[in-house]
Formats: sequence, C-alpha cells, structure tokens
Amino acid sequence: MIPKFILLAMKGKPLPIHGDGSNVRSYLYCEDVAEAFEVILHKGEVGHVYNIGTKKERRVVDVAKEICQLFSLNPDTQIKFVENRPFNDQRYFLDDQKLKNLGWSERTSWEEGLRKTMDWYVKNPEWWGDVSGALLPHPKMLMVPGIERKFDGTDTGASAFSLSASDSRESHMVVPPPKNNPSTQKPSLKFLIYGKTGWIGGLLGKICEKQGIPYEYGRGRLQERSQLLADIQSVKPTHVFNAAGVTGRPNVDWCESHKPETIRTNVVGTLTLADVCRDHNLLMINYATGCIFEYDAAHPSRSGIGFKEEDTPNFTGSFYSKTKAMVEELLKEYDNVCTLRVRMPISSDLSNPRNFITKISRYDKVVDIPNSMTILDELLPISVEMAKRNLRGLWNFTNPGVVSHNEILEMYKKYIDPSFKWTNFTLEEQAKVIVAPRSNNEMDASKLKKEFPELLPIKESLIKYVFEPNKKAFSG
Ligand SMILES: NC(=O)c1ccc[n+]([C@@H]2O[C@H](COP(=O)([O-])OP(=O)(O)OC[C@H]3O[C@@H](n4cnc5c(N)ncnc54)[C@H](OP(=O)(O)O)[C@@H]3O)[C@@H](O)[C@H]2O)c1
Repeated sequence: MIPKFILLAMKGKPLPIHGDGSNVRSYLYCEDVAEAFEVILHKGEVGHVYNIGTKKERRVVDVAKEICQLFSLNPDTQIKFVENRPFNDQRYFLDDQKLKNLGWSERTSWEEGLRKTMDWYVKNPEWWGDVSGALLPHPKMLMVPGIERKFDGTDTGASAFSLSASDSRESHMVVPPPKNNPSTQKPSLKFLIYGKTGWIGGLLGKICEKQGIPYEYGRGRLQERSQLLADIQSVKPTHVFNAAGVTGRPNVDWCESHKPETIRTNVVGTLTLADVCRDHNLLMINYATGCIFEYDAAHPSRSGIGFKEEDTPNFTGSFYSKTKAMVEELLKEYDNVCTLRVRMPISSDLSNPRNFITKISRYDKVVDIPNSMTILDELLPISVEMAKRNLRGLWNFTNPGVVSHNEILEMYKKYIDPSFKWTNFTLEEQAKVIVAPRSNNEMDASKLKKEFPELLPIKESLIKYVFEPNKKAFSG
C-alpha cells in the first residue's frame, strides 16, 4: 500500500482506499526487518518460528493522510474511498516478544521510515518500470517475478474511482520484471555453460532460449581456476554445463600430436571445473564420450550386448580416448558430477561438418560398422532435464540400439539425395588413412531409457529428428 500511494502521490493522482480505511496494519521499516533476519540467523533456534512485527498500528486512512502531507497534497480531495474488496482484513497483529528476547528491537520510527521510503521512491521513479496496472484501485494482475501476466482492467468501469484517458488505454498492459534487482527476482534456474563456440555448447544455449531458462556462457578457460571462480561469482548459476573440450581439428588425430594441449583442457581443465563446482555445491553436467569402449568377446558386434555404465573402458587406441577414460575414472569421485557418455553425435543440421552424417556423406570411402550414437536434437533437451532432476553419476548418453554407416547412408539416399552413392572400405584400409584407431561399440542405454521412457531407439530417432525434418526442407 505504501509504495502504491507514494507512486500515485508523486503523480498527483488520487489515493484509492478500499472501504472506509478504518482497518489497521502495523508497519516496519525494511532495514529493521533485515536486521531481524540477521538476529534470527545468528541467535535463533533451529525449528523455531519468530514473528517479525511491531506493536504500533496505524489506520489505512491515516497512512494515506500522512503521505498526502509529505507531498503537500490536500487529503480531503486526494483520498478517494472506493468499494471495499471482498476479504479485507480489519487487523493483523503479531506478538514480536520472542524476537525481542533475542535482542532485536525496532530502530526506525514510523515517521523516519516513511520519509526514507518516500525519498527512495522520489529518487528512483523508474525502478519498477511500468506498474501503472498495479496502481489502479482494484488491480487484478499477478505480480510473479519474471513471469508476465496481462492485466485485465474490466472492473474499473464499475468502480467509484474514475480513470484518466491514459489509464484506460492501459487496460492490457504487461508488468515487466523488476529491473537491476536480482534479489527480488531470483530465478529458480540459471545455467552456466562452457563451450560457447563449440557445437554442443552452441546448441545448449539455443535450448535454454527456447525453454526460457536464464543462462550465460563461461568466459574462463577450464584450466584456470581463478577464471572459473570469477564466472561462478558473477553468474551465480544453479547448474554448470561443461561442453568445452579439445576435440581436435580437423579430427581427433590432432590430439596425437598435441598431447600437452589435450591434457590441459580435457584432463586438468575438466577436473578443475568439477572441483570448483564441488566447492560451490554445484552440479556439473559433463559432456564426455562413449568412445572409450570397443567391441570385445563379451560385447560382440550386433549381439545386442552393450557396455554398461559400470564397465571399465577398454579402448585406449587414441590419445583423445585415453585421456577421456582417465578423467571419467577420476570424476567418479566427484558426487556433484553427472557424466554423459556422448557417441558419434548427430543433429538435424546436415550442413554442420561436425555432424556424423555430414562427415560420412563427404568421405571418399566409409567403413560399415554398427555403433551407438547420440541424436542431439532428442538428447540435449534430456540433459537439461537431467540437470533439473539433479541427476548425478555416469550415464550412457546414446539412443538405444545401434545403426551402421551403411544404414545411415541408405536413409540419406532415401530422404535427402536419391542420387547419392558411396564406397565402403575395410577397417584395415581405413587404418591406412587415419593416425589413431577409432572406437566402435554398442552402449547399453537402458539406464537412460528407464529414467526417460520416451527415449527413441536410434533408427526411429534418426528418422524423427533428422531425416523427416530435412526431407521437408529439401522437397519444399
Ligand atoms: N563432437 C563429437 O564427436 C563428440 C563426441 C563425443 C563427445 N564429445 C565431447 O563433447 C564435448 C563438446 O564437444 P563439441 O563437439 O561441442 O566440441 P567443439 O565443437 O570442438 O567445441 C569445443 C568447445 O570447447 C571450448 N574449449 C576448448 N578448450 C577449452 C578450454 N581450455 N577452456 C574453455 N573452453 C575450451 C572451445 O572454445 P574455444 O574455441 O574458445 O577454444 C569450444 O567452445 C567435448 O568434451 C567432446 O569431447 C564430442
């Protein structure tokens, strides 16, 4: 009521009082309330309830009169009595003795508190943005921070209080969230994402935008602890996503000739970020890799027996995979980390050179081996959901089942380019044109499927999220 009356008085507008204004309220200056919180924090007993109040009460009409006086307005003409609201409490009274026993007392007099409040509003007239809907006699809007609700001013015509022409034009206004005041608008989620310039990091930002989740990209390099701390202090995230890592250009063979650089980011950097997050009680969603396994006698190709989360990595053929397996092992000791084993990621953007489909459709020759893969369009939103559910530990982050290179290229031919042709070669022939061996495997996605029963098998996901949408685009 006090902010509303001050804002109206500043504009010289009438102060509407519901009913006759005889109902009483007790008022405390905000700094005294803040001090009460502090006293309770330090001296209060856990599990106890404390009333924060004052025994001094004032009638609503008297408050309105005093505000008029502060603005040199005539209360007799300025105050308008409007229809009372259906449930307008006559009085609330809190006994604050228990709080006083802790040593707290009210320090600001009513007069001083009111004057300071008025001074603040006079100095910060634009602080709340456009709240004209809230200043109407009977506002109907919901003031939910961060959520826009339309104001429906239909009852204003029936009110005894007449609106100016400019007011009536605002009968469908939107209340903006408070400006520059994070303490009054604490969002329930705020993501800090590493990997702004990367493929997965870039897609994560788009998902956050689509879902309306506040996020910021980390500026720090992963291996620089002080930079990560600065990011956390400035962003104040609820969750951290690590989509940063050295993946090698043009491919992972780069890591064979850049081992210290690979270690710096993928090992030192990833562990540093996990450690900093742990210090700050933050969950870190870590996009790791499933390229740390290869088919073996217990998990033969096309057997349907996939590697499980608890299986020990058996593929160290490339330096990239070797370091990723080492980090995965160490991250198991961090209970604030959710490690997602991504494999051969695919997205609906077929122009992206990082996309597995784009890669194999451009190669001169391709091997034909079934593999588990990750359809990013389906799975990245699931990783956001995993953050919301605060899931931790190791997860095979692939669609269930396997798909081979040839099966994908058949789909490519069917949906994208009927004239497409390709040539296969063997693993031995492939070995001659790459530096480090590549991992081929099936991952067991049953843990993920149990948590997200809607998760599609790889071939269905490919058609739904990649080929069907692109087919429309190509034929259109
Ligand atoms: N794409 C795949 O085939 C695949 C498969 C399985 C798993 N993964 C894993 O998923 C993660 C993301 O992959 P991606 O394909 O999105 O990678 P990407 O496109 O190569 O992007 C890597 C990102 O990491 C950042 N980065 C590299 N070193 C950094 C450091 N020291 N500090 C901070 N940022 C650093 C890069 O930023 P700058 O440009 O500023 O260096 C870039 O934004 C990686 O860990 C990767 O190993 C990828």
